[in-house]
Amino acid sequence: MYNAKAYSVASATSPLVSTTIARRNLTEQDVQIEILFCGICHSDLHQARNEWSGVMPTVYPCVPGHEIVGRVTKVGSAVTKFKPGDLAGVGCMVDADHTCPECQAGQEQFCQNMTLTYNFPDKHLGGVTYGGYSDSVVVDERMVLRAPSNLNLAGVAPLHCAGITTYSPMRHWGVTKGKKVGVVGLGGLGHMGVKFAHALGAHTVVFTTSPGKKDDAHRLGADEVVLSRNADEMARHAGSFDFILDAVAANHDINAYINLLRRDGNITLVGAPEKPLALAAFGLIMARRSLSGSCIGGIAETQEMLDFCGKHNITSDVEVIPIQKVNEAYERLLKADVKYRFSIDMASLKSE
Ligand SMILES: NC(=O)c1ccc[n+]([C@@H]2O[C@H](COP(=O)([O-])OP(=O)(O)OC[C@H]3O[C@@H](n4cnc5c(N)ncnc54)[C@H](OP(=O)(O)O)[C@@H]3O)[C@@H](O)[C@H]2O)c1
Ligand SMILES: [Zn+2]
Ligand SMILES: [Zn+2]
Repeated sequence: MYNAKAYSVASATSPLVSTTIARRNLTEQDVQIEILFCGICHSDLHQARNEWSGVMPTVYPCVPGHEIVGRVTKVGSAVTKFKPGDLAGVGCMVDADHTCPECQAGQEQFCQNMTLTYNFPDKHLGGVTYGGYSDSVVVDERMVLRAPSNLNLAGVAPLHCAGITTYSPMRHWGVTKGKKVGVVGLGGLGHMGVKFAHALGAHTVVFTTSPGKKDDAHRLGADEVVLSRNADEMARHAGSFDFILDAVAANHDINAYINLLRRDGNITLVGAPEKPLALAAFGLIMARRSLSGSCIGGIAETQEMLDFCGKHNITSDVEVIPIQKVNEAYERLLKADVKYRFSIDMASLKSE
């Protein structure tokens, strides 16, 4: 084992503070990465504050962070994909069994033996896994992604969660030219959803509660922007969408969006609010509409998404912050005040 610098949270009501954590020595399949940037996902906040206590209670101390990009510093003897000096990325998963039907299908995110990047039983060291708010991490090479070399690294980090979480359902539900696609909530996930829907050729409509984000939505690729609190604006789109991606982190009325779908249209939830959402059956029944969920994406698809971003010059719009501003960033996230992802410059951890 060796010591790594990190930021951790000690309880649901504590701020993140500087700490030291243990990382494992490399096994033959492992890659050690010096973390350069780590995005701040709203999931980090949900988890740090134990808002998902019913599904995945937080084990403290917790080190969040699953939008990691950095440079390989060491590799195990059996590693073939990476060498020291390479760019490398890690998302929400650090392990899977690679043998079950889900893994065989490239859907490691649904593997019963998958290990999440933080707050998950650590098979190597015991305790729980610690995430990317840290200066380094050790990960099995099969879960490590190749970062495109032509893109700004601070903006590449968030692709490892916000990117794949929006790309995967759009691919699954056939978002392409000729389709009308909605994205609800212009935050970290939502702004990536807009970029992908636009790049895939769909007619892209953003639903936002923030009038001040209208111009940005157009700049990010939206063809139309709807202020979701304006009932008239909403009504104009009734029964017209093929697909809607809902990336809202808090309680809201999903029925209003279900009614905007055409026959057989689908709305997919990727946002994971703390409390259950109310569902009116008739919205689904009357036009054979469907409601589904989606969880990040598999490793191969994450690589496909990164390569797509490299080709189309897509990164996350980031506000780069030092780790010392992480608590302030969480408060701003709660106010939907981020354009559009915080990316922590891990060099700032050196002064701790
Ligand atoms: N399924 C998955 O695999 C997965 C992966 C990552 C994250 N998530 C979840 O996805 C959600 C979004 O994450 P994020 O990092 O994108 O969060 P975020 O950056 O905070 O963005 C959420 C956006 O939702 C909108 N919003 C916030 N409060 C609202 C309210 N009360 N009513 C209506 N709209 C509201 C805001 O957009 P406007 O200002 O435009 O209204 C806000 O910017 C979180 O719950 C997160 O845990 C799921
Ligand atoms: Zn995330
Ligand atoms: Zn598996």
